[in-house]
Amino acid sequence: MSLPSVLLTGASGRLGSAIREDLSEQWNIRPVSGSGQLDTEAFDLLSLKHMKRLLDQEFDLIVNTAAISEPSQCVLDPVKSWRLNTLWPRRLAIHCVARSIPMIHFSTDLVYSGGIPPYTERSPSVPLSLYGWTKLIADRFVLNRYPEALIIRTSVLCGEVSSTRTTFSQDILAGRVRNVYVDCWRNHTPIHGLAGILPDLLEKSFSGVQIVAGKYAQSRSAYAEELLREAGKDPSDLILTYAPPNTPSKLHLQGRTTLLQLTVPYIYKNVI
Ligand SMILES: NC(=O)c1ccc[n+]([C@@H]2O[C@H](COP(=O)([O-])OP(=O)(O)OC[C@H]3O[C@@H](n4cnc5c(N)ncnc54)[C@H](OP(=O)(O)O)[C@@H]3O)[C@@H](O)[C@H]2O)c1
Repeated sequence: MSLPSVLLTGASGRLGSAIREDLSEQWNIRPVSGSGQLDTEAFDLLSLKHMKRLLDQEFDLIVNTAAISEPSQCVLDPVKSWRLNTLWPRRLAIHCVARSIPMIHFSTDLVYSGGIPPYTERSPSVPLSLYGWTKLIADRFVLNRYPEALIIRTSVLCGEVSSTRTTFSQDILAGRVRNVYVDCWRNHTPIHGLAGILPDLLEKSFSGVQIVAGKYAQSRSAYAEELLREAGKDPSDLILTYAPPNTPSKLHLQGRTTLLQLTVPYIYKNVI
């Protein structure tokens, strides 16, 4: 039996790379990215010509991980962020519904304000950042055009992956990030757990917004300390600090279904 052909955008990024690492035996993945790095094909999703050339081809499934995923980058280039994070997923939803093919798109816990936890798929969303707004409006656009699309709302991606960017846990373990917030709770999410669960979600016909994230929320500092201890490293080099204003603080997620029951030791075992 031939494997389903899957267009994977953002294939050089963190989640795109994890999906390639984990699902290449189940999916025939066509990996595309902005830069063409890491054996991906370069397609600028902001170029109408490139977009058309890509979407003229036939796929059984489209998985969109392309994004400007750093809030600070969105502020530096709001127009580009709006076009890639918001208008591109909308375009993709129109395409997928017209071709009757499934679409998986990724959203973020940063669509919530972090003031009234826990957050479910139905909680009111009031982002505190431009990034959060670009993602929230994309979710609305996609669902409006294609209610059967699967939109996975997740949190800080952690775990070992070979990508053009690194995950939070890779940064902590490598000592690249030392400042960690004591007052900011997130559901740190094992990136390979998230990638690996996608075929199952499709098979079970999940659609609409679904929270898929680490099992429980921890402060960024508690997560970092636990991770370092698990790795046999000294956490005392961490600098415990308060988050800057307008950082959502209590982003505890509570999905309808507990899909990922994965905790820090699991992440650690998968990191080394
Ligand atoms: N990272 C997290 O902790 C986190 C948390 C919650 C939700 N999410 C969501 O999860 C998804 C994946 O995030 P990620 O962290 O894996 O992203 P990432 O590592 O920043 O990767 C982004 C990808 O988008 C591509 N891209 C950027 N501009 C492009 C353009 N103009 N044309 C085509 N491709 C372009 C990049 O390609 P090049 O770099 O090759 O140009 C890269 O492959 C996103 O929707 C993000 O919002 C992420």
